[in-house]
Amino acid sequence: MDEDAGSMERIFNNGAGAIVTKSIGLKPRKGYPNPTVIELEHGILNAIGLPNPGIENFKDEIIKLKKINIPVIGSIFGTDSEEFVTLAEKMQNYGVDALELNMSCPHAKGYGLEIGCDPDLVKEITLNVKKSTNIPVFVKISPNLANIVEIAKSAEEGNADGIVAINTLKAMKIDIEMQMPVLSNKIGGYSGNAIKPIGIRCVYEISKNIDIPVIGVGGITTGIDAIEYFMAGASSVQVGSAIYQRGLDVFKKICDEIKIWMENHRYNNISDLVGVAHK
Ligand SMILES: Cc1cc2nc3c(=O)[nH]c(=O)nc-3n(C[C@H](O)[C@H](O)[C@H](O)COP(=O)(O)O)c2cc1C
Repeated sequence: MDEDAGSMERIFNNGAGAIVTKSIGLKPRKGYPNPTVIELEHGILNAIGLPNPGIENFKDEIIKLKKINIPVIGSIFGTDSEEFVTLAEKMQNYGVDALELNMSCPHAKGYGLEIGCDPDLVKEITLNVKKSTNIPVFVKISPNLANIVEIAKSAEEGNADGIVAINTLKAMKIDIEMQMPVLSNKIGGYSGNAIKPIGIRCVYEISKNIDIPVIGVGGITTGIDAIEYFMAGASSVQVGSAIYQRGLDVFKKICDEIKIWMENHRYNNISDLVGVAHK
């Protein structure tokens, strides 16, 4: 979830197995004015507006990370299939190990819908990216959907190598003294502890209905949270907001907590835990 090589390297040195970049688009984007991130009682609300340096200016960051052998998943976002393909090819040429397609950007048809709400478009984008690249492609799903399984199935039909669930949930905070929304964009995405039960439900439903691996994300703060995601059907997990709460060494702490739980419960392999709650 970060964008410069220095901070991504620090995250890796603190126990993360791989780094997912911030979502990168075709052109540089400034993002929204402040306030863009606020800490709430049980999570984080953000509307940063996908700020990023643009794909051309991102090349050096990836090259720096690959020089020190850090596994990198390049996250990209676009407005249509053509943009996704251009971005995917560039990321692959820069040397990323896998791609993550962030489908949570506005749909060309408008109505406030995200690309990831349109099953045909999700399938088309995934198919085209798969055809033009030869590294694993993961499709990241938004929880702001009536039927999350349908979208995951579309990505699977598009030959995705895995599903990442979930992105943030649409939410709002109002300052009652100012009598107005706190975020400059008014509506933002909610993440952190509060969304974990929603992420768990999404991973459970998706993994029950598709055959490709699911990567769980949403509110993972401790090793115990990660174990819950494994049991729901995730074969690996990502950590975002917990970095704000527990610091950069959260990755080491989570790995240690997973190991301790597994030792106490006589589990040798994480794969033995994946989907056990489906029985
Ligand atoms: C400040 C912030 C920035 C984020 N930026 C991105 C992004 O660029 N691309 C993306 O796919 N998800 C982005 N996310 C969503 C996270 O990757 C993750 O899906 C979500 O926050 C839920 O996980 P968490 O509760 O561990 O944070 C962002 C989240 C936060 C809090």
